[in-house]
Amino acid sequence: MATRRLMLLGAPGAGKGTQAQLLMQDLGLPQVSTGDILRAAVKEGTALGLEAQSYMNRGALVPDAVVIGLIEDRLARPDAGGGWILDGFPRTPAQAEALDGLLTNLDQSLEAVVLIDVPEAQLIERLTGRRTCPLCKRIFHVRFNPPPAVPPFCTDHADCPSALVQRPDDTLEVVSKRLNVYRESTEPLVRYYQQQQKLTSVDGDRSPEVVYSELRELLG
Ligand code: AP5
Repeated sequence: MATRRLMLLGAPGAGKGTQAQLLMQDLGLPQVSTGDILRAAVKEGTALGLEAQSYMNRGALVPDAVVIGLIEDRLARPDAGGGWILDGFPRTPAQAEALDGLLTNLDQSLEAVVLIDVPEAQLIERLTGRRTCPLCKRIFHVRFNPPPAVPPFCTDHADCPSALVQRPDDTLEVVSKRLNVYRESTEPLVRYYQQQQKLTSVDGDRSPEVVYSELRELLG
């Protein structure tokens, strides 16, 4: 199978995680989500987790040096050798430049960046209604993708009988801050990857299945 190095870009709630999980199942590539890595560190109560939590809970970005270090370690792991899907990294021009440097050193290159475009009102509704499984990381929504079991458990199968949770940064107040941070710090990356001629975009304001079908077509 060809090595594929892909990136999903988009605002909080655009559906990066949802689409990355579908790509992961389809292409057999690992999803590399800095948000998931940081949440795991918070859950384990490591020094990194304690530091990250204070930024995440108020909707701020974790410092570049911390996140870049995490990505360097993650992309050096054996399962990343055959490619990956980046979700939530990079988020600042400094992170994008660090990724370029890392890939150059490894003699690798980024194949494509896909921007998932969704109007702001929809982003707020998606994030405040999101529920996730703390064990298997499946993503649900109280209205758009309701959990299969009531009360809201991950699945009604034995494979993951876990109660779903709401992320602490999915309250209306923190979501508003995250959207501001996206506009100020991450949106400039659209231009950055356009200049590298790597960027394509999909209209993310449709059902996850329709978005995925267009995404797959774009990626070939
Ligand atoms: P992170 O976990 O990366 O969050 P995010 O980028 O804000 O993105 P989300 O996970 O909120 O949204 P998503 O686009 O994945 O949408 P999803 O598929 O879940 O980061 C969290 C925090 O960690 C940051 O604020 C920061 O503090 C820190 N951090 C992480 N990376 C960092 C970095 N690189 N640098 C510095 N700090 C970093 O979908 C959302 C909801 O919508 C779900 O309920 C889903 O079911 C629903 N949905 C999805 N698609 C559709 C659709 N097509 N139609 C209807 N509903 C849909």
